[in-house]
Amino acid sequence: MTPLRSPFILGIESSCDETAVAVLQDGHLVRSSVIASQVELHKKFGGVVPEVASRSHLEVISELYRACLSEAGLSGSELGAIAVTQGPGLIGSLLVGATFAKGLGLGLEIPVIPVNHVHAHVHGALLSHPTATDAPLFPSLSLVVSGGHTHIYRMNGPTHFELIAYSLDDACGESFDKVGKLLGLPYPGGPQIERLARGGKPGSIKMPKMIEAKRRLHLSYSGLKTFVYTWLQQQREPLTDQQKGDLAFAFQEEALGQICRKTGEALAANADVKSIIVAGGVAANVRFQELMHLELQTNGKSPVQVLFPDLKYCSDNAAMIAALGYHMIQDQALQSHEYLDLSWDAFPRYNYPEKS
Ligand code: KG4
Ligand code: ZN
Repeated sequence: MTPLRSPFILGIESSCDETAVAVLQDGHLVRSSVIASQVELHKKFGGVVPEVASRSHLEVISELYRACLSEAGLSGSELGAIAVTQGPGLIGSLLVGATFAKGLGLGLEIPVIPVNHVHAHVHGALLSHPTATDAPLFPSLSLVVSGGHTHIYRMNGPTHFELIAYSLDDACGESFDKVGKLLGLPYPGGPQIERLARGGKPGSIKMPKMIEAKRRLHLSYSGLKTFVYTWLQQQREPLTDQQKGDLAFAFQEEALGQICRKTGEALAANADVKSIIVAGGVAANVRFQELMHLELQTNGKSPVQVLFPDLKYCSDNAAMIAALGYHMIQDQALQSHEYLDLSWDAFPRYNYPEKS
């Protein structure tokens, strides 16, 4: 394997509404991780506007790169490689990060590694537990539960991802956002619904269960959103705070309960699994962590190691991109000189190769 000229990998992320740059040392030490969030910019539209997003990435990315290097105490010439999000994501936004990375790679004469954003989320969870890798983690069941994806992978190693289940329609985080909108809550809906649900009374509203058939591992969210919409239409009076809490609670229990059930079923079919790694924005939900532990207890599987990320690595960041890039280079099959080829293209959300 061609060695890198230094242990520092620069990560670049621009797939959606966060521009992020990070420097990772030796694959696990985060020297610097800076993020410019666009949440405030998109709030007034009730969701991410692709063109607004890509223009905003373009405005901040150079400054963010400089700030990241300065925080890490490094100069560009000390970097060994660049890892950048190739997809999936908003195409205009991806192109900003990919083009910036390619230009930088050419200028610094270092490899540029195109990274799958969804896979990288799992490495965000692992960065939160640097000592966890001392125990054997693989094979693992890895869940990426975000605004764009609800995926369950079997991983036999850090760069091996076998997609075994995914949502057939909306993503889990997306359904939180859409139900939040129906309840008149600001974007993003996930944290708001979690907060409201704390005041909800269990059992007040009966939510339908999604894809109950045991042998169907896939997930579905659009039915939950439709149920909430129809239920709201049937109410004659404006909702009281208590009713809002009850509805948020009932929705959240099934939105998260569904993934936990499917994880239990996936575990039964993958008895050799040593860990469950949960990643993505929805992993920030405290009730999710409780429900997952309950599921594993009832399944008699509690000895399996369960890793949820620190809050800072739940949502999009560039440290996770650099971490997966590091493992790709470590992979004996993927030699670093391959990454001198810059003819690769970004791929948008709807051309996601795993599901086609
Ligand atoms: O991973 P992420 O930052 O971005 C994507 O790659 O999609 O995930 C954002 C998603 C949003 O849909 C947001 O509502 C959801 O994660 N989310 C939550 C919570 N915090 C963020 N969902 C449920 N409970 C939360 N506490
Ligand atoms: Zn993400």
